[in-house]
Amino acid sequence: WAAEEVGQRLLAWYGTHGRHLPWRSTRDPYRIWLSEIMLQQTGVTTVVPYYEKFLAAFPEVQALAAASFDQVLELWAGLGYYRRARHLHEAARKVVADFGGRFPEQLEAVMALPGVGRSTAGAIVSIAFDRKAPILDGNVRRVLCRLLALRGNPRSGPVEKQLWHWAEVFTPEHHPHDYAQAIMDLGATVCMPRYPRCETCPLSGLCQAFWRGEQDNFPERGER
Ligand code: ADE
Repeated sequence: WAAEEVGQRLLAWYGTHGRHLPWRSTRDPYRIWLSEIMLQQTGVTTVVPYYEKFLAAFPEVQALAAASFDQVLELWAGLGYYRRARHLHEAARKVVADFGGRFPEQLEAVMALPGVGRSTAGAIVSIAFDRKAPILDGNVRRVLCRLLALRGNPRSGPVEKQLWHWAEVFTPEHHPHDYAQAIMDLGATVCMPRYPRCETCPLSGLCQAFWRGEQDNFPERGER
């Protein structure tokens, strides 16, 4: 099959099966960035109330930058991984100091913000600016390992390199915003770590692990 099939199938599926989440009704890069940081180590259902409370207190990046770290921590309390809160605060100050409060659009500039790695930067750039940028978070890693039946620990250097390559290949030129949300939703709601719902998956016809009846054997080790 052709690489474009993956994007086409995912986009069609997302049109009818995508979840309605609070950060999906905005293109404000500040809000998208906040959601992606919160979602790095925390699930959607936990994040939603924190996200709304946080934005009520800090509706734009200037408000977050002007707050004290204690105020930020107070709103973060319960979400865990407190280093994220520290980085979030530092990044807000950087956006205000270096970019006049306007969120940068270049992948490299986004990656240079504290707390933003390559995958989070890809998510922010595709979702906020609808620009093609690959994503490789835990969900995407699992989807790709199964789709391609990639052997080896997905966190090891060589496999990681292949995964980034395929993440790039499959990201379509058109609708990168929807594609990013679609592949993360697929990983969260269909291609789950255990008992994936292959019978409802738009990619099952392309999926090498499914064809072999081996979807439970991928990813091989490391994160599932
Ligand atoms: N996990 C990380 N980013 C996400 C997003 N934008 N939507 C759903 N799950 C996510």
